[in-house]
Parts: sequence; structure tokens; C-alpha cells
Amino acid sequence: MAKLEIRKYGDSILRKQTTTISEINEPIKNLVCDMLETMYLASGIGLAAPQVGVSLRLCIVDIDPQQKSKIVLINPEIISGEGKLSIKEGCLSFPGIFENVSRFDRILVKYTDLKGEKYEITAQGLVAKAVQHEVDHLNAKLFIDYLPEWKRKYIEKKIKKEKKIGNW
Ligand code: NI
Repeated sequence: MAKLEIRKYGDSILRKQTTTISEINEPIKNLVCDMLETMYLASGIGLAAPQVGVSLRLCIVDIDPQQKSKIVLINPEIISGEGKLSIKEGCLSFPGIFENVSRFDRILVKYTDLKGEKYEITAQGLVAKAVQHEVDHLNAKLFIDYLPEWKRKYIEKKIKKEKKIGNW
């Protein structure tokens, strides 16, 4: 396993469309191992492949690492959603930035796991939120896209400052 570099906002890969995974081979399995290690070391609850520089439809979610509740989602697809959950959200590509984002509270999501098994599960609450956030990454969408323009501008300014002092 190896710790991967997490791409921060501003890196063009975060705005690139991803490709469907056609075969779950060794490189994919190794990538998942590295992504898990990277996510746990960064104390994140989710990570998508583009965030480590890989434009593939793959993401991982673990809202409670103590419980080993990890989910590896290959080619995930959110089929439907209901209810509303608006809580503070962060992203490993936006260190130190947390904002309220409104998402579905309950979703039906379809994906393939690392063994190639197909699943269709209902997720609720924080897991549902994390899955929606990660699947967005696969569609080149970022959580700041949900914020009002003035708030996005404020964040951009803050990031610019951080970049200037080499913190981004
Ligand atoms: Ni994120």
C-alpha cells in the first residue's frame, strides 16, 4: 500500500469526466488499497479516484473507520433519492473548508464491488450524503458548485491567499 497525493481544488483533473471501469484487474485492486490508506491517513470519510489523479468511475466511502464500514463503489449510479439533509460538508480536495450542502437524505444506489458483485442498496443519512458527494466527483462536480455565487467567490479568494503562502 502507498499513500497517494490528494489533488486539491484548482487541479484540472477534478473537472474532467471519468471513464467506466470495464474490468476489475490487479491495478484497480491496488488503486483501491492505496485510496483506502490515503483516505484513512487524511481522516476522510470518502475519496474518489479523480482526487488521486485517476479519471475512473471509482470511489470509496467509510463513515466510521472504527467499525470497518467501508464501501468500494465501482461504476456507481444513483437511481433515486428522497428527503433532504443539509449538514456541513468538507472535501479532501478543499482542506479546511466546510459548508452546508443540501442533499437527499435517502438514496438508492447501484454499484459493483471489488469482487465484481453487483449491488443495489439504500443508504441513509451521512452514508447517503458521502456517496452523493463522491459520485459527484465522478461527474466532475464539486461541493462548492451547490453554494451561492457570493460564497463560492469568497472561498476562491481564501484559496488564492492560501496558494500565495504555499499552503494549497
Ligand atoms: Ni470531495
